[in-house]
Amino acid sequence: MTESNTSAVPSLAELIDTRLSRRTALKALMAGAGGAALASSGLARAAAAQPASSLRFTSPPHTIAHYQQVSPGHRAQVLIRWGDKVLRDAPAFDPRQQHAEAQEMQFGYNNDFVAFMPLPRGSMNSTHGLLCVNQEYTNPELMFPGLTKTNAVRTMTREQAEIEMAAHGHSIIEIRKEKAGWRVVEGSPYNRRISARSTPMTIAGPAAGHPRLKTKADPTGRHIIGTLNNCAGGVTPWGTVLIAEENFNNYFGGDPDGLPEAASYKRLGIKGKSAYAWSRFFERFDIEKEPNEPNRFGWVVEIDPYDPKSVPVKRSTLGRFKHEAATCVVAPDGRVVVYSGDDEAFEYIYRFVTAGQYNPKNLAANRNLLDEGTLSVARFDEAGTLRWLPLVFGHGPLTPANGFQSQADVLIDTRRAADLLGATPMDRPEDVEANPVNGRVYVMLTNNTTRKPEQISKMNPRASNAYGHILELLPPGTQGDDGAAKALHTADEFRWEVLLLAGNPQDPKHGAKYHPDTAEAGNWMAAPDNCCFDNRGRLWITTDQGSAQRKNGIPDGVYACDVAGAGRALPRFFYACPKDAEMCGPAFTPDNRTLFVAVQHPGEDADSTFDAPSTRWPDFSRSMPPRPSVVAITREDGGVIGG
Ligand code: FEO
Ligand code: CA
Ligand code: CA
Ligand code: CA
Repeated sequence: MTESNTSAVPSLAELIDTRLSRRTALKALMAGAGGAALASSGLARAAAAQPASSLRFTSPPHTIAHYQQVSPGHRAQVLIRWGDKVLRDAPAFDPRQQHAEAQEMQFGYNNDFVAFMPLPRGSMNSTHGLLCVNQEYTNPELMFPGLTKTNAVRTMTREQAEIEMAAHGHSIIEIRKEKAGWRVVEGSPYNRRISARSTPMTIAGPAAGHPRLKTKADPTGRHIIGTLNNCAGGVTPWGTVLIAEENFNNYFGGDPDGLPEAASYKRLGIKGKSAYAWSRFFERFDIEKEPNEPNRFGWVVEIDPYDPKSVPVKRSTLGRFKHEAATCVVAPDGRVVVYSGDDEAFEYIYRFVTAGQYNPKNLAANRNLLDEGTLSVARFDEAGTLRWLPLVFGHGPLTPANGFQSQADVLIDTRRAADLLGATPMDRPEDVEANPVNGRVYVMLTNNTTRKPEQISKMNPRASNAYGHILELLPPGTQGDDGAAKALHTADEFRWEVLLLAGNPQDPKHGAKYHPDTAEAGNWMAAPDNCCFDNRGRLWITTDQGSAQRKNGIPDGVYACDVAGAGRALPRFFYACPKDAEMCGPAFTPDNRTLFVAVQHPGEDADSTFDAPSTRWPDFSRSMPPRPSVVAITREDGGVIGG
């Protein structure tokens, strides 16, 4: 492959990938002709499950490998990798001679959320658009020669810290689908990097300008440099992208004891031991020197990808916590609803409802729609009801008696406000997303191994939940299978059900629960994380087992699942990540003929380093470490993915 990843020519690694997955598939087919081996082959298992499922594809091997594996009959093209050119003047990537200025013009690290935004704006074009990609965090031990997981924070240089800051944030690239595949449009005026190092942002809503957001560098409390740990996100109906700041607590050094914000910082896990070296070089990441800086992170940021000069805005109305995602849906009355999970053990699920209505006739009129509305938190009961509790200053316990002086305080300390309202502690809420067909809302609860037997309930039914589960929330109007238009996402009360309990259904110790055919199909999953829906309302789930991947013996990847009909809760395995990666992204083009996924942190493992990584995906070159990359999956015959 050439140095730029914009070539439509498949890379050697891709050819290896494709060849291996085809060969494995062929082997399975041939074994089938021999009889006994058929029963254990992935294809046979998929075929056995076929009658119940509406999904029309067969599974690749459900095994951990150095290369990606995709369903036979599909192509998985590496579209852009860490270090590839984003801006016109970006230098060629040289991981041994990297500089922060170069990194700020190149694709960042650890791609997470992916949104495909059609061109022109507002169209349903599926062959030309902007790909908007979060760059969540960095793995210095895999980015820089000589560093390890244990020495990186202590020994990294200032330049390396700046490279890390430049590798965070977001990338916007113009892409086109051509006969040979997708390609990045080099030098496009839309191409943009947003970083933690230098991108100016503003903050809007009640927390803007609040004294708790003021710093030496920003006495107004309104102008923030950069965004941190952008995990998943969402797309607004007016064509902007929401990116969620998740584990922002990791970036701050200094001792919180004795600071006015000490209690607040404790609740968010800001504890004086930073996972990053940045506070050694930059005062703003040292809470003893700049005690309010953390209050400027943990928000949802809105970006207009169609205007490369636009200033990103942190929307404080959506609250401050470890936002996993921010997915939007328009309610029947035109108000816009944003769902978000707070990804930590025993944290909560949130919903924001705008005060105003979405204006589909004038997209620009929606520009500040997210600045007014009501944030609520979920309380579940065992009888199957979910109540949304509004986080409003002056209501219930959210008063000066409990330390809240204003709505800004409620939003800055969202978690503490939610604690006081009696929200339900969940098993690490990751993606939360509304189904465009049945109108129900699906919550990925990734796992929670710290839940004790006395803490279980019907909504979090397993102690030491190592495999995670998926809940289905039913707004009023969604009792049938086509409730999207009627779904009252603004209602105070929903119903809820368990869709599935992940884990291996053939191992009773896992306590898994799926469609009864799942055990035979062999497509079990662990740690559901992100999700999206296809146009038929089927759920596409991506997984993140972390260090449990090896113990579980299955790769992270993409699983598709019916949520209605005979195949409800019968997952089918579609794509396997390369070794030691997690699967993020998933985003379809409007025609469902391309599925974009993000391979995050390939090679992340305890002993894996730049010099001796556990994999060198996707380049498989001695001179390259593993590189997080976005992959475009298409059907070889050009058809609709999933059928
Ligand atoms: Fe960034 Fe909850 O994953
Ligand atoms: Ca995630
Ligand atoms: Ca999603
Ligand atoms: Ca995760």
